[in-house]
Amino acid sequence: MKIEMPKAEDTHMFGTQLADVLRPGDLVILTGDLGAGKTALTKGIGAGLGVSGTITSPTFVIARTHRGGQRRIPLVHVDAYRLGGLEELDDLDLDTDVATSVTCVEWGAGLAERLSEAHLEIKLVRRADDVREIELLAHGGDWTQRLAAFAHTLSCADHASAIPAQTGAESETHPSTDHHQSAQKTPAETNSARQDRTIGAAC
Ligand SMILES: Nc1ncnc2c1ncn2[C@@H]1O[C@H](COP(=O)(O)OP(=O)(O)OP(=O)(O)O)[C@@H](O)[C@H]1O
Ligand SMILES: [Mg+2]
Repeated sequence: MKIEMPKAEDTHMFGTQLADVLRPGDLVILTGDLGAGKTALTKGIGAGLGVSGTITSPTFVIARTHRGGQRRIPLVHVDAYRLGGLEELDDLDLDTDVATSVTCVEWGAGLAERLSEAHLEIKLVRRADDVREIELLAHGGDWTQRLAAFAHTLSCADHASAIPAQTGAESETHPSTDHHQSAQKTPAETNSARQDRTIGAAC
């Protein structure tokens, strides 16, 4: 499936909706150029899961685990931009967390597939008009069926009322766990506030 996201808020909302179908052990690999919206989408997934801590495009940290909220599903957010190869991925020692969490890996194509037999690939393209095209691709497991169900849910949702109200900054003291540090990166990234999900499927 392929859809258009005119604004960052739309991408965020899409992530919150996607979170509804995510389960512990799921691997999501996000691809797209700098500033394509990988972190924006991951923020939406984190908001949908209700995890703790502000999701950022980290300056030094390669992987961060955000504690689960009401659904008790943590989010492992990995930015593989600077990972040199499979050995460095293994050094992050993510296996235990991946089994019990939803894991989103930016720049993970060709690398992060080893974390799980099945995964969801999300391709983001920034068009000249700044609209993002998001394509979801099923890889193994039951992702084909889950994507079909998700597409049905989306077709039922009212996107006109999709923009949620902002709730402000996070307040927890130790909301997340960092796995690794690396050199500085300067991605196009804004630290938008966490948002509540307001969409409900209507059919
Ligand atoms: N439709 C849209 N979807 C997502 N982001 C958008 C959209 N329109 C504008 N933006 C802006 O584009 C930027 C996307 O940045 P983001 O950090 O999510 O990209 P990224 O793919 O994670 O980049 P990097 O590879 O540097 O990590 C944000 O500043 C966001 O506000
Ligand atoms: Mg990013």
